Amino acid sequence: MRRTGDLGQTGWTKTTLQHIAAADYDMLLLPGDLSYADFFQPRWDSYGRLVEPLASARLWMVTQGNHEIEKVPLLEPRAFKAYNARWRMPYDAGASPSGSNLYYSFDVAGGAVHVVMLGSYTDYVAGTAQYEWLQGDLAGIDRRKTAFVVALVHVPWYNSNKAHQGEGDDMRDAMEALLYGARVDAVFAGHVHAYERFTRVYDDREDPCGPVYVTIGDGGNREGLAEKYVDPQPKTSVFREASFGHGRLQVVNATHALWTWHRNDDDEPVIADHLWISSLASNPACNK
Ligand SMILES: [Fe+2]
Repeated sequence: MRRTGDLGQTGWTKTTLQHIAAADYDMLLLPGDLSYADFFQPRWDSYGRLVEPLASARLWMVTQGNHEIEKVPLLEPRAFKAYNARWRMPYDAGASPSGSNLYYSFDVAGGAVHVVMLGSYTDYVAGTAQYEWLQGDLAGIDRRKTAFVVALVHVPWYNSNKAHQGEGDDMRDAMEALLYGARVDAVFAGHVHAYERFTRVYDDREDPCGPVYVTIGDGGNREGLAEKYVDPQPKTSVFREASFGHGRLQVVNATHALWTWHRNDDDEPVIADHLWISSLASNPACNK
C-alpha cells in the first residue's frame, strides 16, 4: 500500500506520482486534499487527468481534507459536493456500511488488513453518526483473522510542526480511546505539509499498545512545505522532516509490516525513514 497526502497538482505532485508509478503496490491511500480545486471546478478535471494513469490501474482510496469542503455561505450550502460526486468511495458496501462518503472502512488482503477512513470535517464527538459508526465498525473486527488495523484521517492528532498546531486535538479527545481500545496499529494523517513519525502513543504519552502515528502530508501541493517545528522535539516524535515524498506500508506476514518513507529528492529505492510495525493483535501484553 502506498500513502501520500495533500497531493495537489504541481511539479512536486508529478515527481511524487513518478515515484509511486515506479513501484509495485496494490492500493494507494490518500488522507485528503486531492486537487486543491478550491471552488475552481476545472481543476478537478485537470487533477483527474493527472492521476488517471495511476488511478485507473490501481485502487485509490481517499478521505477528504479541508480543500474538498468547497462550501460558500448562501451560494453553496452543501459541503463536499464535488468531492462526493467525483470521488465516491464504497461507504455503503462491506460489513459495516457507514451511510456517508466522508467516513467508511474496508478490508484488504482477504481480511488480513482493515482500513478505517475518518472525516476530520464532519461531526465526530460521542453520539454523532460518525462516532457511533466507528464504535460499531471497530467492535466488528475479529483480530484473530485481521492482523492489522490502520486508520486515515486528514488532520493529524499528533503533530509537532508549527503548521496546524493543535487543530486535531478535539477529534483526538473524542475518538482516541476508541482506536486505542481496538488496538489500531497505525494512524496516517495529512494536512501538515511535511513528514513526521511518532512512536506508539496514547493520551500524549508513549504506550506500547497505542497506534504508531504518521503525518504524510507531503505529496506536493501548491502551498509549499511546512518547515517550522515546535522546539524541543517531543519525546514521542521520532522522525520529522519537511520534504516532499510518499510512504509505503508493506504487510509482510500476519505479524509484521514494514513502513518506509521515500523522499522525492532521492531515487525511489532510497529509504529516508523506516519502521517495522508488529501487529498489536499478536502482542499478548496488549490483549489481556
Ligand atoms: Fe489540509
